[in-house]
Amino acid sequence: MDSIRITGGTELNGTIPIAGAKNACLTLMPATLLSEEPLTLTNAPRLSDIRTMSTLLESLGVEVSSLQNGQVQVLSSHGADRHRADYDIVRKMRASILVLGPLLARDGVAEVSLPGGCAIGARPVDLHLRGLEALGADLDLVEGYVHARAPRGLRGGTFEFPLVSVGATENILMAATLAKGTTVLKNAAREPEIVDLADCLTRMGAHIEGAGSAEIVIEGVDRLHGATHPVVVDRIELGTYMLAPAITGGCVTLEGGRLDLVEAFAAKLDEAGIAVSESAAGVTVSRRNGRVSAVDVTTAPHPGFPTDLQAQIMALLCTAEGVSVLEERIFENRFMHAPELMRMGADIEVHGGTATVTGVKRLKGAPVMATDLRASVSLILAGLGADGETTVSRVYHLDRGYERVEEKLSACGANIERVSQDD
Ligand code: EPZ
Repeated sequence: MDSIRITGGTELNGTIPIAGAKNACLTLMPATLLSEEPLTLTNAPRLSDIRTMSTLLESLGVEVSSLQNGQVQVLSSHGADRHRADYDIVRKMRASILVLGPLLARDGVAEVSLPGGCAIGARPVDLHLRGLEALGADLDLVEGYVHARAPRGLRGGTFEFPLVSVGATENILMAATLAKGTTVLKNAAREPEIVDLADCLTRMGAHIEGAGSAEIVIEGVDRLHGATHPVVVDRIELGTYMLAPAITGGCVTLEGGRLDLVEAFAAKLDEAGIAVSESAAGVTVSRRNGRVSAVDVTTAPHPGFPTDLQAQIMALLCTAEGVSVLEERIFENRFMHAPELMRMGADIEVHGGTATVTGVKRLKGAPVMATDLRASVSLILAGLGADGETTVSRVYHLDRGYERVEEKLSACGANIERVSQDD
């Protein structure tokens, strides 16, 4: 297992390119099942999760061609004739559940393993199942697998989500494009990845209104055709790297970054004393006057503060002036970075879904362990600003969602390297 070694204390200056969004690509790829014609995705990120999704789709009979060093994915489900997503793939990546709706819409049959929980929570899929039942699907749970049937095809229906779910919104949205009649989704997720999915499905011939709002209306069509779609830029990677100069000092431009995708996050950085500006080149970040002030953060569905940036902003607040209170309202166990940050000298008290961070002067480098994707990168960020050497182990978590993190940061002056196990 690789680890990442950082010697902190250097200011960062320069530019970092932001890739296509992992969480958009992971829902766009299964959309190929909705058409017999090829779907081409450009600006695709080069990540292990994308390779895992490719493997899953290939197990269903989809042809996946990865071109231009992985930045273009050409998917063709013309020959796809299998309907079972096996546990050994699904357990590695929860987003695998996103083949359920498209398979059901395409062939009226699907067997998808329940994903099981993960480090940050139980993460049930009950809303995915109830939403598909609202479209006329018959579902049974058999030995850890969802057996879904819609022999006469799916029919449009109305479904109100009792709580906002990104994945369930994506699954039902995709299924509804081929359902007979009109589907109305209420209290739908509003994330930019939902808008990107709707844009892609519309290019494929779907009739969708309201994506990005809490109510989405889909008029089912008989078939969808192929398309070419650019994956939207990754707002979580963008926010993550915006924190790097905020933590180290200096000035960094995030190429391809779009402020409209991170408004709530950027507002918090502004409140903390970080200058954020946007130009044709992207988003530029630096400290306004050398100081960072404590801020309170509460995570919420979009357009609120993203839960996927909570661990990262905590790394900044560990050395802010004052006391910050972070409320994690989306997942039940998403403070696993806190004990690792405390090994670096952070002053954090966690009670249930609330973490109180009292700023200290500086963190001290230490060996720390990654537990999940966003916690891993939070430790990297903390190491950039800490005195001395930090070694983050188990970085396979990191490689799921960040391409070439050590290259992108060292290009701006960070003293960071990947250390292989046998080094
Ligand atoms: C997506 O996960 C993202 N993953 C997550 O990013 C992100 O944190 C999350 O949305 C919230 O924004 C992908 O897009 C691949 P949810 P998802 O359904 O769809 C509960 C990362 O780091 N819930 O919006 O699984 C659930 O337990 C990952 O890139 C149910 O109760 O999230 C959670 O508490 C981590 N029943 C809340 O809803 C359901 O059927 C929000 O989950 C579904 C969800």
